[in-house]
Amino acid sequence: MSENIPVTIDAELRRAIDVLTAAGCPAPRSDAERLIAAALLLTRDERPECGRNTLAPTVVDLLTGWLDRRAAREPVEYIVQQCQFRRLFLYIDHRAIVPREESGTLVETALTLPEGARVHDVGTGCGAIALAIKNERPDLVVTGSDISPDAIGVARENAVRLHLDVRFAVASGLPLGTYDLVVANLPYQDPHNPVVPNVPEGDYQPAVARLGGRDGLEVIRDFLRGVPRGIMVALKHAPSQAEAVNALLQCPRAVGVTSGHARFTLGQTP
Ligand SMILES: C[S@@+](CC[C@H](N)C(=O)[O-])C[C@H]1O[C@@H](n2cnc3c(N)ncnc32)[C@H](O)[C@@H]1O
Repeated sequence: MSENIPVTIDAELRRAIDVLTAAGCPAPRSDAERLIAAALLLTRDERPECGRNTLAPTVVDLLTGWLDRRAAREPVEYIVQQCQFRRLFLYIDHRAIVPREESGTLVETALTLPEGARVHDVGTGCGAIALAIKNERPDLVVTGSDISPDAIGVARENAVRLHLDVRFAVASGLPLGTYDLVVANLPYQDPHNPVVPNVPEGDYQPAVARLGGRDGLEVIRDFLRGVPRGIMVALKHAPSQAEAVNALLQCPRAVGVTSGHARFTLGQTP
């Protein structure tokens, strides 16, 4: 398409922003910068110095395909097959949901544990929470599990790539074991009455990672029924579910409350 006409990075950035703005993407500049940076295998910090450099036609062709995908609202992370979570750059693809920055609160609940404590991440997806805990507290014994064999495939790949000693297993709910803390970002969206807004990007993420069954809390209730009494559990949920989740735990307390939204609850299983 761009055959012999040199295209500068700045011009390509403007084109990308226009395409993504027209498609209704909420952060067109940031998306455009991330796609161009990934196409150039550069970090975003390096990009501005290259503004007047021209792009190889193969890079422009690659970006054209990527822009089409982003304009159809595929998450940038799936397109570039990478996501950042806390200090880690993780591999990601459609087999697992893209981790959200705010889920770092579940990592923080583990950081205060005594040396050598055992932490398990239920519904680990691409392994982000478990791997971040191990990265920030190498002394902890960290494991993770997920009902989805596809997701566990991604988590295992990430453990190998990042040289982090975290064992992952396929399991529904909590696998048998001895744990000092269980963290869980299980699906909590109510399919009939969404508790968090549905966005077009959600259609690209696995349904098993998003939908929590009746009132959005069925998966969490089933999980808690399978956890032995007295285990410390940290859960992510929608702000509107905080009261219902409090009723499922002993001595519940909200953690990581931002802008008045209680999205994480720590408590013991009854
Ligand atoms: C919202 S995603 C969270 C993924 C990851 N923890 C993160 O924060 O990015 C929920 C995950 O729970 C898994 N899941 C759903 N039902 C489950 C169950 N009954 N037992 C274990 N995992 C389950 C899904 O496959 C999905 O990977």
